[in-house]
Amino acid sequence: MGTPFITLVEPGRIGDYRPNLPLSEQPDSVPKAFLDAMAVRHQVFVDEQKVPVENEFDDDDYRSCHWVVYASVNRTVEPEVRDPDTDQIIYPRRSETSTVPVGTVRLVPYPHPPHPVSGGVYVNGQLVSSISDDAHNVAATTATAAAADAIPRRSSLAMPFTVERATELHDGVEPYVKLGRLAVVREFRGYKLSRLLVRTALEWARTHPTYFQPSVAAVGLEPLGVEKLGSVPKWLGLVCCHAQKDVVRAWEKFGFRVDSGMGTWMEEGITHVGMFLRLDLNASDEK
Ligand SMILES: CC(C)(COP(=O)(O)OP(=O)(O)OC[C@H]1O[C@@H](n2cnc3c(N)ncnc32)[C@H](O)[C@@H]1OP(=O)(O)O)[C@@H](O)C(=O)NCCC(=O)NCCS
Repeated sequence: MGTPFITLVEPGRIGDYRPNLPLSEQPDSVPKAFLDAMAVRHQVFVDEQKVPVENEFDDDDYRSCHWVVYASVNRTVEPEVRDPDTDQIIYPRRSETSTVPVGTVRLVPYPHPPHPVSGGVYVNGQLVSSISDDAHNVAATTATAAAADAIPRRSSLAMPFTVERATELHDGVEPYVKLGRLAVVREFRGYKLSRLLVRTALEWARTHPTYFQPSVAAVGLEPLGVEKLGSVPKWLGLVCCHAQKDVVRAWEKFGFRVDSGMGTWMEEGITHVGMFLRLDLNASDEK
């Protein structure tokens, strides 16, 4: 594998993406790098982890920043051919180097839906049932796509600010951004690519603290008589992730801490926990 490089896809350019169309039939206006991110997510979450394809993309994708990491891969196109009598090479091996997308992560701006219910079972972002924390291993059976379909899907595009339950690491009020959909293609794991993705996204967020600052209208504060942007809560560096339980150690290595107050819940049949990290927005820029 050659030196990997990372591309950022900003949200404004993703709007034309059609979740019901295959990647090869997407409008030309959709950035190629976003299609690459979706190809990686398909391989990891749909093919490998068996998340239903229709639940993998969600409304948050339209408003998120996405990073995609690429690697140069050298592949043999034609093997060498040797003379069977003399063992001399008749035709040398022919190889080709191509650049392939191998990992991705997204950063979702605030506001967000309330923290998941501890013991909840979520399908396609919807709570379909609730169980006790110690019964998670059998909970997935109660969550069916049909049950999720029966509940109207709430769009986070029009999410208002709300005060929610306080947890150990979140007071229920402070705005936070959310890192998620972290995925590295299986053959490329163990090369610190997820570390590179997470560090890049966090450093970008730290150096662009007002990028996601929403307008009064966007967060639905107009009816409350809030007219000035200064009245909209500011992001102070708090970052959340909903981590698959098996991958908590990796997120801890990136600086996140488990929020015990958030408990555990199931998303698409996988047990998740909430984790937080606080970025120092006053730190000097990385060299
Ligand atoms: C989790 C995943 C993104 C890790 O990608 P990766 O590129 O192999 O990770 P890295 O090589 O950057 O590892 C970074 C650190 O995390 C650790 N780590 C990676 N995967 C881990 C895992 N499954 N469990 C515990 N630690 C892990 C590594 O040991 C490494 O620690 P170190 O720097 O101290 O050596 C990848 O395995 C994956 O895509 N898994 C399937 C999808 C998934 O579970 N996504 C996370 C959703 S919350």
